[in-house]
Amino acid sequence: MTPMTVHPEVAKALENFSLPEDLGFGHVMAPVMASCIYENGKWGQLELLPYGPISMYPNAKVLHYAQEIFEGMKAYRVGGLGPFIFRPQENHLRFNRSAERMAMPHLPLEIFMQASLGVTAYCSHFVPRRSGESLYLRPFMFATEEALGIKPSDKFRFMVIASPSGSYFSAGGLSVLIERFGARAFPGGTGFAKAGGNYAASLLAAIKTKQQGLVQTLWLDGREKKYIEEMSGMNFFAVIDNELHTPELNDSILEGITRKSIIFLAREAGIKVVERKMDIDELIADIKAFRCTEAFACGTAAIIAPIDFMADESGERYPLQQPEGKMSLKLREMLLAIQEGRTEDKYNWILKVEPKSFS
Ligand SMILES: Cc1ncc(COP(=O)(O)O)c(C=O)c1O
Repeated sequence: MTPMTVHPEVAKALENFSLPEDLGFGHVMAPVMASCIYENGKWGQLELLPYGPISMYPNAKVLHYAQEIFEGMKAYRVGGLGPFIFRPQENHLRFNRSAERMAMPHLPLEIFMQASLGVTAYCSHFVPRRSGESLYLRPFMFATEEALGIKPSDKFRFMVIASPSGSYFSAGGLSVLIERFGARAFPGGTGFAKAGGNYAASLLAAIKTKQQGLVQTLWLDGREKKYIEEMSGMNFFAVIDNELHTPELNDSILEGITRKSIIFLAREAGIKVVERKMDIDELIADIKAFRCTEAFACGTAAIIAPIDFMADESGERYPLQQPEGKMSLKLREMLLAIQEGRTEDKYNWILKVEPKSFS
C-alpha cells in the first residue's frame, strides 16, 4: 500500500491549533483527519486532511439506512512518554466484525493503522499529558452510495478523527438506572457490532435516565428483561464474595477491549473471574445482603468507573457498600499504568507512535 498522502493545508492547520485548558470529553477536535474511499470493489488512497466539514449528497445511504460503524481508541502521552495507543489491533478486528454484520467491506489492517497512527503522529503535541487525559481516536466508516433503494451501499468512506480529551467521568461514583422495559439490542440483532444505530436506540432511555437524576442506563437482555447485558457505551462488572463477575458474551453485547483486558489482568493478579448470565434480581439481592460490595462500568472512554448505586424507575435505590470501589480502583490503576506506559508492558499491549512534524 502506498503511504498516506498529506494535503498541503495540513501544516497550516497544525500550526494554527492550540490546546485549550478546558478539554472535557469529545468537544475539542484535533486539526487533522484521515480519509479513504472505497468504490468499484477496492479501497483508494489514504489521505491526511485538515479537519473540517465533509460534503455528501442527501441521498447517501448512511443518512437513511444507518449503514455506519465506528471504533474508539486512546493515545496517551502522560509525563511526556509515548504517544502510546492501547491494543489497536483489537479495535481493527472488532471494526471488521462490525463491518461484516452491517454488510460493509473489510478494512485492511494497514489502512486502519496508517490512519490512526498518522493522525496521532501529527497531533502528538496536542495529546494532553495529565494522568487520565488522552487523544481520543475515532475511526469510522459510512455508506456514501447515492441511491434510495434499501440495498447495501457499494461506496463507503473510512475516516479517523481525534479529540484531545480529559477524563470521561468526573470524580464520584456512577448512578445507574436499570432499564426494565426498552431494549437496546436483542438476539440475532446488531448489539455485538459497534454500529451507530445501536447508540441511537439507547438515546431515549438516556433521557429517561437523566430525568430520574441518574447518569447511566443498564440494559437487560432483550428477550426476558432478566439478565444484565451492559451500559449504552460500557461493559458491566460486579464484585461478589470477592470474585469478579461479568455477563458472559452473546450477540447482543459488545465485546469491550477494556473488559477483555480487565479479565486478563484480574486473573493474572489471582482474582477469580466468573463470566456468566447475571440475573438482575439476584444481583439486587446480593447487594442488599452485602455479598456484592462493589460494581463498575468499563470502556475505553471511562476506563473503569465505580458505581455508587443502581436504581429502579420506581425510585428504589440499591447502594453499593463500597462506592469508592477498592477492587475497581486497583484494576483501574493496573490498566492505566500500562496504557500510560508507567509500568512494564509485559503483554505487548501498547504501540508507540513516532511523533511527526513539519518543522
Ligand atoms: C456498547 C458498548 N459496550 C462496551 C464498550 C466498551 O468497549 P471498549 O472497552 O472496547 O471501549 C463500548 C465502548 O466502546 C460500547 O460502546
